[in-house]
Amino acid sequence: MLTKEQNDLLTQTGPGTPGGALLRRYWQPVALASEIPLGGDPLPIDILSEALVLFRDEDGRLGLLGRHCPHRGADLSYGRVEDGGLRCLYHGWLFDVGGKCLEQPAEPKGSTFKDKICQKSYPVVERGGAVFAYMGPGEPPLFPAYDFFAYPPEHVFARKLFKECNYLQANEGNYDPAHVGFLHRSSQMLNRSGLVFGDMRKFGRVDISDAAVDPFSVPALKVEDAPFGMRIFQVRDGGPDKTYLRVTTFGMPNFSVIAGPQGGDGHVGIWHVPINDHVHWRFGFTLRRDAPIAQARETDEFAPSIRPRDPQYFDGEFHHRQQLRNRYLQDRSTFADSYTGMGSHFSVHDAFATESQGSIQDRTQEHLGRTDLAIGAARRMMLRAIADVQEGRDPVGVVRSPADNDFRDMISFDVLVENGSDYAEVVRAVADETGRTLA
Ligand code: FES
Ligand SMILES: [Fe+2]
Repeated sequence: MLTKEQNDLLTQTGPGTPGGALLRRYWQPVALASEIPLGGDPLPIDILSEALVLFRDEDGRLGLLGRHCPHRGADLSYGRVEDGGLRCLYHGWLFDVGGKCLEQPAEPKGSTFKDKICQKSYPVVERGGAVFAYMGPGEPPLFPAYDFFAYPPEHVFARKLFKECNYLQANEGNYDPAHVGFLHRSSQMLNRSGLVFGDMRKFGRVDISDAAVDPFSVPALKVEDAPFGMRIFQVRDGGPDKTYLRVTTFGMPNFSVIAGPQGGDGHVGIWHVPINDHVHWRFGFTLRRDAPIAQARETDEFAPSIRPRDPQYFDGEFHHRQQLRNRYLQDRSTFADSYTGMGSHFSVHDAFATESQGSIQDRTQEHLGRTDLAIGAARRMMLRAIADVQEGRDPVGVVRSPADNDFRDMISFDVLVENGSDYAEVVRAVADETGRTLA
């Protein structure tokens, strides 16, 4: 349970808010690269309650500018890409990717007024199939060397999904291991013939069709701080003398890494990025280390219950067909087959769970239990980081020296280990192995 003040601190992200100041200290994904191809149209985007326009100039350089023209406010996303920048349609002012005003054709000849004008602009980089922006003050930190961005592009699948709730409650679902055995359950799970993953047999490194392993059972939890945020250990029975260990990651401040459904060695990195405080984008980066993912992503290796872009579940690329406004098309007559009555797609279940908490969950009314250990710990870490930013310090996870920019142990995975194993040692061993495929 939080006080109202704490809940506001963590959930309000617009300009000038302490929580917004925290999120702005990290590179944030703001668009998919596929939305802004060479020669493509300028893209109006709203991020952290700021109206922006993302565009490429004629040389392919990316710019992220305030959307409203500094002259008299017309929307620059309607503008013309020409003459080295983006030209406002209203009176022809021209801006380059850095926000510099290059021309004001309606001003008197010889006027230097344009030199006094600079449109708001943010640094952007393209990584892993997405465009990331730094919307904070001062020199941007180093772009974090997460492994999603170190593999060749064909090993990573980037996507985004619209979510109708505050970013925080959606991210909290990523480090809430107990919900999986309820929300994502289906009747197939009960007789264990294929679970809800269809033909998929492996989750991370563990054969989930093995009778001794039940990824849907409620785990014992342990959390530990890490340079990127927090590591969460889920401990389940793995059969005689074995522990089924699942390691997931909370990354400061709106990021998670979960052991993946990519049908091989890899994991999924997820950012929940506020559009405003009531809706957000979920950016997902699925990495498969042992094989290209591009072909696999539309096939059975992505089980039906998690497959992206399935027209049965998606309305276009970014929206669920089952939404809050249609009560997720819940059909209670299907309860015998489906725990939720909402079909089998994981992402729909999660949308229901987190959106139905209210557009901003009122955490003064909740009651955290033992399985919410990581959620409480992550909030405390975020509140400390907000204070750090207010007092002029870099928050956890922001890196400025190349020596610190090493996240090879920021990995999420499932593994069967001997009972009594040292979990930190297990993480090191898996990180060594996965890190080697990087080198
Ligand atoms: S409003 Fe954009 S040039 Fe006048
Ligand atoms: Fe979930």
